[in-house]
Amino acid sequence: MNQILDAILAPDSTPEDFAALTVPDSYRAVTVHKDEAGMFEGLSTREKDPRKSLHVEEVPVPELGPGEALVAVMASSVNYNSVWTSIFEPLPTFGFLERYGKLSPLAKRHDLPYHVIGSDLAGVVLRTGPGVNAWKPGDEVVAHCLSVELESADGHDDTMLDPEQRIWGFETNFGGLAEIALVKSNQLMPKPRHLSWEEAAAPGLVNSTAYRQLVSRNGAGMKQGDNVLIWGASGGLGSYATQFALAGGANPICVVSSDKKAEICRRMGAEAIIDRSAEGYKFWKDEHEQDPREWKRLGKRIRELTGGEDVDIVFEHPGRETFGASVYVTRKGGTVVTCASTSGYKHEYDNRYLWMSLKRIVGSHFANYREAWEANRLIAKGKIHPTLSKTYRLEDTGQAAYDVHRNLHQGKVGVLCLAPEEGMGVRDEEMRAKHIDAINRFRNE
Ligand SMILES: NC(=O)c1ccc[n+]([C@@H]2O[C@H](COP(=O)([O-])OP(=O)(O)OC[C@H]3O[C@@H](n4cnc5c(N)ncnc54)[C@H](OP(=O)(O)O)[C@@H]3O)[C@@H](O)[C@H]2O)c1
Repeated sequence: MNQILDAILAPDSTPEDFAALTVPDSYRAVTVHKDEAGMFEGLSTREKDPRKSLHVEEVPVPELGPGEALVAVMASSVNYNSVWTSIFEPLPTFGFLERYGKLSPLAKRHDLPYHVIGSDLAGVVLRTGPGVNAWKPGDEVVAHCLSVELESADGHDDTMLDPEQRIWGFETNFGGLAEIALVKSNQLMPKPRHLSWEEAAAPGLVNSTAYRQLVSRNGAGMKQGDNVLIWGASGGLGSYATQFALAGGANPICVVSSDKKAEICRRMGAEAIIDRSAEGYKFWKDEHEQDPREWKRLGKRIRELTGGEDVDIVFEHPGRETFGASVYVTRKGGTVVTCASTSGYKHEYDNRYLWMSLKRIVGSHFANYREAWEANRLIAKGKIHPTLSKTYRLEDTGQAAYDVHRNLHQGKVGVLCLAPEEGMGVRDEEMRAKHIDAINRFRNE
């Protein structure tokens, strides 16, 4: 592994140098164990501690198949799916691996008693499998997390509709929180040259998801002037949704839960901000019944911030706790676009407000190849910026996931894999200098 790192750090390494490197037999990776999937039984979601279930250990390098690439991972990031995997909710991810393993002898490689997790990476291509022409050893890359087989016509219009669509590092093995990762080569995209490894690894999953959910015609299809209510506006998804709204000429109404988070939204350029903690919204009276007066109070607050207008789009992901309010506050003909249910997936809303006001609920999930590419292109052009607040070492991924689980973080939390320290891998200093304040906006003071 040292030779690989030396080649990456040397300024004059050639593709031939990388092709000549020996790929080691094993590598360090963050895993969960199948025989520990019941370890948190009887505990509440909050009590389940990723620091107990996430291991850092040496695992064998998988065999490289056709259309695939092995990547030396310099940095990765924690996504909420790493939290779900680590607390075995809503289900242990080993079920996904078992199902995938039944697809083909090659897919069988993924069905193991351990799961290498992680759905983001920035790094360098080490080897490519048969049939890969677009990438070669030595290429500096990031990877999006859409893994599809594309053997059915269903996925050829919109790759997210492929019946064998999976999220790499969540529903497949050999993810990015590791020193080496296995990806399908069509997950690879050029690493933005003005960013460090950890900055480049941070946006991937959430940036692509927010792009489809908010900007793409497959999602809400946001347009100039739209009022967009963004839950968790300084969080993983929300920090990109806020940037897309601002960059696209829309008007984000950012919901956050602290002064500090409100300040981060202001730094991004948002003006309309709602502190849900300070304003004490309580949409559920108890476990079973919602409080429509609280929906109305939120609606009134939104109108105060917009000069009397309602929201065209609600960017939804908290789920059960907020969904009734989200449907209520959307304007006539507007759209609630949802990609998650962090607080519970059995949503309740008053359907009269939906049908009588001709609103739409749109489901959105990650992004197709093209959308992920467009989202990365915007990062590479300095139109959208990474929202990295803090970086951990690979050994401390459990703590990093704990921070995200407990909502102690801002924006994105990064993980250094092979990169020995932060700040390495920048290839375009001039462009970086131009955007440095925006790049550092989320950094802890
Ligand atoms: N389908 C997909 O492709 C996809 C992709 C990415 C993420 N997701 C899912 O989306 C969810 C959010 O992911 P993320 O990366 O943005 O996580 P994150 O970094 O934790 O940000 C979520 C933010 O939502 C807010 N929030 C949390 N619980 C809330 C509640 N009960 N009511 C109102 N606001 C709440 C919090 O902000 P405040 O405390 O400041 O309000 C939090 O910072 C997760 O469930 C994740 O699995 C799905």
